[in-house]
Amino acid sequence: MMTSLKTALAIGTAAATLHCAAFAQQGPTIRVSISDEAAGDPIEPEVYGHFAEHLGRGIYGGIWVGEDSEIPNTNGYRNDVLAALEDLEVPVLRWPGGCFADEYNWRDGIGPREERPVRINTHWGWVTDDNAFGTHEFLNFAERIGADAYVAGNMGSGSPREMSRWVEYMTSDEDTTLTRERAENGREEPWDVPYFGVGNESWGCGGHMTPEYSAELHNRYATFVDTPPGMDMTRVATGANVDDYNFTEVLMRDVKPWLMDAVSLHYYTFPGSWENKGAATGFDEAAWASTLKNSLRMDDLITEHVARMDEYDPEGRVALYVDEWGTWYDSEEGSTPGFLYQQNSIRDALVAGLTLNIFHQHTDRVKMANIAQMVNVLQASILTDGPDMILTPTYHSLMMYKPFKGATPLEVEFDSPSVEIGETSMSHVDVSAARQEDGTIVLSMVNLSPDEPARIRTGLRGSVATGQLLTADEIDAHNTFEAPETVVPTDFTGEETRSGLRFELPPRSLAVVTVDAE
Ligand code: AHR
Repeated sequence: MMTSLKTALAIGTAAATLHCAAFAQQGPTIRVSISDEAAGDPIEPEVYGHFAEHLGRGIYGGIWVGEDSEIPNTNGYRNDVLAALEDLEVPVLRWPGGCFADEYNWRDGIGPREERPVRINTHWGWVTDDNAFGTHEFLNFAERIGADAYVAGNMGSGSPREMSRWVEYMTSDEDTTLTRERAENGREEPWDVPYFGVGNESWGCGGHMTPEYSAELHNRYATFVDTPPGMDMTRVATGANVDDYNFTEVLMRDVKPWLMDAVSLHYYTFPGSWENKGAATGFDEAAWASTLKNSLRMDDLITEHVARMDEYDPEGRVALYVDEWGTWYDSEEGSTPGFLYQQNSIRDALVAGLTLNIFHQHTDRVKMANIAQMVNVLQASILTDGPDMILTPTYHSLMMYKPFKGATPLEVEFDSPSVEIGETSMSHVDVSAARQEDGTIVLSMVNLSPDEPARIRTGLRGSVATGQLLTADEIDAHNTFEAPETVVPTDFTGEETRSGLRFELPPRSLAVVTVDAE
C-alpha cells in the first residue's frame, strides 16, 4: 500500500473563499504539520530525469551543433547548454524517442558522419535527419553531463536481433565483431547503459497495438536484451497512456516477471483539449487554473496505475517510470509545425513543482520520471535561438528542487482553502517535505493562486539555511532572448515565531527552503 503523504482539504465554503476581504492583504493562513515519520522510500534522484528526442530543435541546434559550428562547442555539443545541464545535475536522460524511437535504426547513427544515411523523421515535421547525433554522440553526451543513459529501443518497426545487437554494441566488453566496430568508431570501452526501454507508446505511434499484443511483443524483444554478466540493465516496458489502466493491468498480468523491471506511464498537461491545447503565453486566469488543476491529475493517475500493479506485484518489484510528463501547448506562432516549440512561463514552473510534489508521495513505485523535453521542445528547461540560450522558469524550479534528490519524504498535513476560477476549484497551496541524510528538512511550497498571497505556518523550529522563491508579476511571465531574467529565483527565508517557522508566499509562486530543524 502506498502511504499518502499529505491531506489537502480544499474548503470550498463561502467563508473560505479567497476573494474574502479579510484575506485581501495577506491571504489565508495555512497551518502545515510535518511529521517525523518517513512517508515512503527515499526520493530517487532519477525522478528528476529528462527526455531528449530527435524532434524539432531538441537535439539538432539545441544540444548538438557539430564540431564545425560557429556556436562555441565541445566536440559538437554547444558549450552554453553543456554548462547549464552540468549545473542542473541531470540524473538520467532518455533518448532517442518518443515516437522517433520506433522508427530508429541504431546502425544509421554510427561510423563516419559523412557516410551516415539521411532519413526522414516522419513523426516530427517530415524533416530529414542526417544522423550526425547517434549512439556515440548520445552516450558520450550523457557521460559528459553526468547523466545515466536511458536508451529507448525500437519495438515498433525494428527486429529483436537489431535491438540485441545494439545492446551488445553499447555494453559488451568481449572481443566481438561489434565491439571491434565500436572501437574503430572511437570507443574502446563499453558504456554503462543502466536503463533500456523496449519500445515507446506501443498503443499509438509505436505500432497501435492492443495491450495483449504489446505484452507479447515485450516478452519476445526483452528476451534478447542481454547485458554482460554483472552489468545491470533495467528493462522498461512501454506502458499506458494517461488513464488506460487496463494497459498496465495486462502488462502486469502477461509479461514474464523476469523480463520487466519497470513499466512506463505518459501524461501531458494542457489547459484545453488535445486538438486545441491552449497557448503557452498570453492566456487568461481560467487557463492558468485549468493547467494547474490538470497537472494535479498526475496524483490520481499514479494511484490508479499503482493499484493495478499492486494486484500482480504486491512486493513492489516492478517500478513505475513516468518517462514522459510536462506541459504541451499549441506551438509558437511562426515555429515549424511538428517541432513542438513552446515558451515556458511561471505557470510551467508551478506545474513542475506540483508534479514533483506528487512524485514525492509515490516513492514506493515511482522510481524515475522524465520531463519532456530537455531543450526547445514542449516543457523545456532550456531554449536556444542560434547562438543564444535562455534558461526557462522550469529550469529554475528544477534547480530549486535539487535538495529533494535522495531525501526521504515526510508525512505532511494541511487544510488549504480553495481557489475558485470559473469552473476550476483547486487547493490554494501545495506543500511537500523531506528529510535529507544530514537531518536537514527540505520544504517546497507552491501558491497556486494567480492573485492572492498565502501565509504558511509550520511547527518547525530551527533556522532556514537556504531558500529561494520563484514568482513573477504576471501569470504568463517568461524569459525571452531579449529579457532572459524576467523570471529568476530570489533569496527567500522564513520568519521564526514562537509557534514555529512562518513563510509568506506571494501569489503565483514556488518556494523551496532547507531548514536546520531543532
Ligand atoms: O514528447 C513528444 C511525444 O509525446 C513523444 O514522441 C511521444 O512518446 C509522446 O506522444
